[in-house]
Amino acid sequence: MHIEKYDADRDVLLPLFALADDSSAQISSYFRLGEVLVACEGGLILGHVQIFETGDAGVFELKSMAVREERQGEGLGRALVAAAVSRCREGNGRRLIVSTATADIGNLRFYQRQGFRMYRIVQDAFVPSTGYPEEALVDGIPLRDQVFFERDLTLD
Ligand SMILES: CC(C)(COP(=O)(O)OP(=O)(O)OC[C@H]1O[C@@H](n2cnc3c(N)ncnc32)[C@H](O)[C@@H]1OP(=O)(O)O)[C@@H](O)C(=O)NCCC(=O)NCCS
Repeated sequence: MHIEKYDADRDVLLPLFALADDSSAQISSYFRLGEVLVACEGGLILGHVQIFETGDAGVFELKSMAVREERQGEGLGRALVAAAVSRCREGNGRRLIVSTATADIGNLRFYQRQGFRMYRIVQDAFVPSTGYPEEALVDGIPLRDQVFFERDLTLD
């Protein structure tokens, strides 16, 4: 497996973006932004991570990431975050932020295991008006609120 910058047709990556976000309206709003890195093996794309620099210089956002379902749990997600961190540092990044649903306990664990810390909650971010299904549940928890994480890139 290796990780490389992806410069080909982004439409090919739509199924991976859709794994990470249930709202096609939201995906369309950020799909073309920034840079995408992909994890590849034998010509197959196994996962992706998308990063871009926010309006605040040195602050990058990890906007989308996913690993093909049958290859999750093998360390690819961890490797993609490490590659994204390296790219941000190359661009003089000092802070990397990412957000996910508070309902998604697996993602809360995943990002904290990658050195991220929570700093902000946005209530009712995932609602029908922003493109999410009404009364959706993740592990029995209503999909409703959003949590932001940050990682200080000046630290190890
Ligand atoms: C989140 C995701 C990218 C993680 O990728 P992955 O390749 O499965 O993760 P890794 O194998 O590198 O796991 C790294 C660590 O996170 C943990 N982890 C990963 N996914 C987890 C989950 N759903 N629940 C609990 N722990 C999880 C692993 O157990 C591992 O822990 P360890 O450090 O104690 O060994 C992947 O599960 C995924 O694509 N999910 C669907 C899309 C998604 O939710 N994207 C994020 C949207 S914000």
